[in-house]
Amino acid sequence: MSAAPSNDDSHHGARFTGHEYDGIREYDNPMPRWWTAMFWASFFFCLGYAFWYSLTGNGLGMLEEYEADVQEARAKAAGLALAEPVTEDSLAKLALDASMMAGAAQVYAQRCAACHADQGQGLIGPNLTDAHWLHGDGSFAAIYGVVSEGVPAKGMPAWNKQLTPDELRQVSAFIGSLRGKNLPGKAAEGALISPGAPPAAAPSASAPPPAASPPPAAPAGSEGSP
Ligand code: HEC
Repeated sequence: MSAAPSNDDSHHGARFTGHEYDGIREYDNPMPRWWTAMFWASFFFCLGYAFWYSLTGNGLGMLEEYEADVQEARAKAAGLALAEPVTEDSLAKLALDASMMAGAAQVYAQRCAACHADQGQGLIGPNLTDAHWLHGDGSFAAIYGVVSEGVPAKGMPAWNKQLTPDELRQVSAFIGSLRGKNLPGKAAEGALISPGAPPAAAPSASAPPPAASPPPAAPAGSEGSP
C-alpha cells in the first residue's frame, strides 16, 4: 500500500488532476492558451460567417460563383468585340453577354416589336424565331446586313441611320439569340435553313462541350463474355 499521491506531486513540473485508477494518475494537461484562443476565434467566426452566408443571402454557391465568373468574362469579351470589325464571331460574342442583350432587348421592344411582335414571333414582319429566312442564311452576319440596310420595298426599315453603331450590332446579336426558339406566331416565310438544329449562338471556344454520347455497344461475344 503506497501513500496516495498528492496533486502537487510533480514530475517534470507536471500537475495531476487527482484522478487515479489502478495506480494510473491523470496529468492535468490543459491546451495551450494560443490554441484555445484560436478555437474560440474560429468558433465565433463560424457563427458570423454562417449567418452572413446563409441568412443574409450574401453567399454564392460554387455554381453561382462559376456563373458569375463566366458572365464577367463574356461581358469583357463582348465589350472588346464592339471594337472589332463586324463579323460572325464578334456578333456571337455580343449575344453571349446577358446584360448587353438585356439592353438590346429594350431597343428591340422600342424599335422592332411593333412589326415583329414582343417575342420576335412575327406580326407585320416575319417570325424571327423560326429557321426560315427571307434574307440570307440566318447567320449573325446576314441578320446584321438586313437590319442595317433594311428591305425598304417590303416595309422593313433600314436601321443604320436610326440606331448607333453599337445598338445596331447589339440588336442584330439579339435577333440571332432568338433563333431556334420556334415560337408559335407568323407562319414561316422564306427558305428553311439548317432544319432541326438551331444555328450555334456561341463561338466553339466558349460553347459547352457536347453532351457525352453513350459508348458504342461492344460487339457480342467480345472480351469478358464467357
Ligand atoms: C415597320 C415594320 C418593321 C419594323 C419596325 C421592323 N421590321 Fe424587320 N421586317 C419587316 C418586314 C415587313 C420584313 C420582311 C421583309 C421582306 O418581306 O423582305 C422584315 C424583315 C426583317 C428581318 C429579316 C427576316 C428574314 O426572314 O430574312 C430581320 C432580321 C428584321 N426584320 C429585323 C428587324 C429589327 C432588328 C428591327 C428593329 C431594329 C426591325 N426588324 C424592325 C418589318 C419591320
